[in-house]
Amino acid sequence: MTTDNTEIKPQELLHSIQNTTSLETLEQQRIQLLGKKGHISLKLKNIASLNPEERKKQGKILNQIKQQLNEAFSQQKDKLSTQALDTKLNTHKPDLSLPVSSKPQGRIHPLRRIIEEMISVLGHMGFSLKEGPDIEEDFFNFSSLNFPPQHPARQMQDTFFLNARDKEGLPKVLRTHTSPVQIRSLVKTKPPLKIIAAGRTFRCDSDQTHAPMFHQVEGLLIDSSTHMGHLKGCLETFCRSIFGVKNLSLRFRPSFFPFTEPSLEVDIRCRRTPEKIIIGEGNEWLEILGCGMVHPQVLKNCGHDPKKFQGFAFGIGVERVAMLKYGIPDLRAFTSGHIPWLQHYGFHATDTPSVGFGLHPLKS
Ligand code: DAH
Repeated sequence: MTTDNTEIKPQELLHSIQNTTSLETLEQQRIQLLGKKGHISLKLKNIASLNPEERKKQGKILNQIKQQLNEAFSQQKDKLSTQALDTKLNTHKPDLSLPVSSKPQGRIHPLRRIIEEMISVLGHMGFSLKEGPDIEEDFFNFSSLNFPPQHPARQMQDTFFLNARDKEGLPKVLRTHTSPVQIRSLVKTKPPLKIIAAGRTFRCDSDQTHAPMFHQVEGLLIDSSTHMGHLKGCLETFCRSIFGVKNLSLRFRPSFFPFTEPSLEVDIRCRRTPEKIIIGEGNEWLEILGCGMVHPQVLKNCGHDPKKFQGFAFGIGVERVAMLKYGIPDLRAFTSGHIPWLQHYGFHATDTPSVGFGLHPLKS
């Protein structure tokens, strides 16, 4: 081991670090002092040969110096890096005339695309977009929507319950549908109200046609005179626009949801061939969404007089529509993160969704 008798002058060293103007020189300096064979490191090694008392004293001093130097190096490094970045940002001029890369790698996920299309179509009809949390309280997900405690309809929802509790002491849930956003809007706003919600929903169910996380788009219109004719017209325009089929026929079937009365399920006309389903042709029907007139009790639960206000609501599963529209055979692929799948079914960032009234050439 080399013995190094040169005296360390911490103030001089600190001064020299603070005056260094290049990152490379700074790094060289750091290695010379604190690197494995650096000046300070060697001195620390050498104290092994001192007597215990001296060793303790010198060790303490050297470690303090080492710490001071480390801090000074790190501060100076930050300072010089910031300066270098500032200089780069101030001098770098992007060439805006360069063409867009002809082979962009990223893709927009088909679910994101179809949600944007739905929001765009409903937005054209005057609905505004609202949001709600994924983790919901029992009141918003169930009781206000007229699912009383122990009601069998709660079981249809295969709920994920969480350990966290709400104000009532009831377990919080991962929202099983987007309908709680109806309630969040209704308790805050006096009708007239015309909103949509779009987002993730969760149910404890997983097989070829069910995923524990899926997406819904929800609509709600409340005023003093809206009736089922309006609901029918709205959903006809919506489905025709989304599927791009001008005369698409819809079939309304009686159904049950606790928060609507009457409740309906909507089917669209289709023809099934061995390879695919053709929307708008043939004599078969495919269930596509649930809807109904908002139950008077739901309006009461949100503090509104059902004698004054009425309206409709609907909810649609997004994955199902995307599978039909884009010919995607497997539900599980949506969350597989499989890049070749995304390259195939995804959309280029520069593609504009082809929906909206007057924008969208509807097929007849
Ligand atoms: N929330 C229902 C579900 O997840 C879907 C639904 C049906 C929503 C009818 C509605 C509606 O707003 O009116 O199964």
